[in-house]
Amino acid sequence: MPALKLKLYQGEYRIEIGPGLLGEVGDRLRGMGFKGKAAIIADATVARLYAGRLRSQLEKKDYEVALLEVPPGEGNKSLDQAGRLYTELADFGAERLTPLLALGGGVTGDLAGFVAATYLRGVPLIHLPTTLLAQVDSSIGGKVAVDHGRLKNYVGAFYQPRMVISDFSTLKTLPADQVVNGLAECLKYGLIRDKGLFELIEGNIDEIKALDEGLLGKMILHCASIKAEIVEKDEKDLGLRNILNFGHTAGHALESLSNLAIPHGRAVAMGMMTACLISRRLGVLPDAELARIRSLIQKAGLPVNLPQDLDYAALIQVMQQDKKKQEGALRFILPEAIGKVFIQGGISPLLLAEVLKEQSE
Ligand SMILES: NC(=O)c1ccc[n+]([C@@H]2O[C@H](COP(=O)([O-])OP(=O)(O)OC[C@H]3O[C@@H](n4cnc5c(N)ncnc54)[C@H](O)[C@@H]3O)[C@@H](O)[C@H]2O)c1
Ligand SMILES: [Zn+2]
Repeated sequence: MPALKLKLYQGEYRIEIGPGLLGEVGDRLRGMGFKGKAAIIADATVARLYAGRLRSQLEKKDYEVALLEVPPGEGNKSLDQAGRLYTELADFGAERLTPLLALGGGVTGDLAGFVAATYLRGVPLIHLPTTLLAQVDSSIGGKVAVDHGRLKNYVGAFYQPRMVISDFSTLKTLPADQVVNGLAECLKYGLIRDKGLFELIEGNIDEIKALDEGLLGKMILHCASIKAEIVEKDEKDLGLRNILNFGHTAGHALESLSNLAIPHGRAVAMGMMTACLISRRLGVLPDAELARIRSLIQKAGLPVNLPQDLDYAALIQVMQQDKKKQEGALRFILPEAIGKVFIQGGISPLLLAEVLKEQSE
């Protein structure tokens, strides 16, 4: 499978996507000129599944390997865990040129990336993402962070990896609800940027959910190249990268109002539907397109309607507290058609309340 290349101010790196690529990590490290030690920072669940093979393969290539495990879960994307990892890295004797391999989902990538950015003022980072979300989204673009109390992703940096190696065979062990979670982001890319991607998913949704390798590879490559293109054009998130927040304005508010009981992907799916309904009300998104979007979100196994007991006023308030607000009125990324979005400010709370009501019926 062809590799993607990302060209940024911080340097250039490759994103390799393919089945079984974890078996080639040692060769890639050698190819990049690393010698001596290598540290794997892994989600403990993922470590049980894949770290043994990764470790022995690296040892065969003469690397001295440390495996540093982190318990799974967002709660471990923390300064406490980062602190523990600094100590373990120092005990291992990790130096400026010791690569850190982040093996796991977005939580591991963000945490290990944060550690890589700060330990000894920066050591080489290699992402080995093992969730669909991490392969299409979090491993690309250089945002690394930890949470601080209720401040999610508040302490972080822009720190680009030296390489991303996405082995989509690892998705076979991913729980089905996590696959569906990642599919929400894949649909997002299609909706904001690429009708062809939307149609690829639309035409093959059952095969994709069954993890057909050919289709999965095609879809992940498509998604990753869209993220890469947007990041290349707006490395520091000052403009275009905004469109990646499609579905996330209402999505984040739903997540936080539910105290994270609603998983991210499901919240984003509902948020994308909110944006679609606003756009239709503004007379932009045609009914036929709306119906296609709604149907595909549902076929993916994601919700389109809001929870029955939702407190609209509270939801709108949470959205208004979001950084994208403008004097009470809200700013949304809205679909113009499948594959194209625009940014619209001045969405009144009244209009939003009407849409939310419509969406919960
Ligand atoms: N940096 C960015 O640009 C960016 C973008 C989007 C999201 N994120 C962050 O990503 C995080 C969410 O990432 P996620 O959805 O990957 O969640 P995650 O890392 O928590 O992984 C989800 C679950 O799947 C398990 N798992 C991972 N890979 C597996 C595999 N191959 N087989 C079996 N189990 C496996 C993990 O143990 C975990 O329980 C959030 O913290 C979010 O803030 C970052
Ligand atoms: Zn997201």
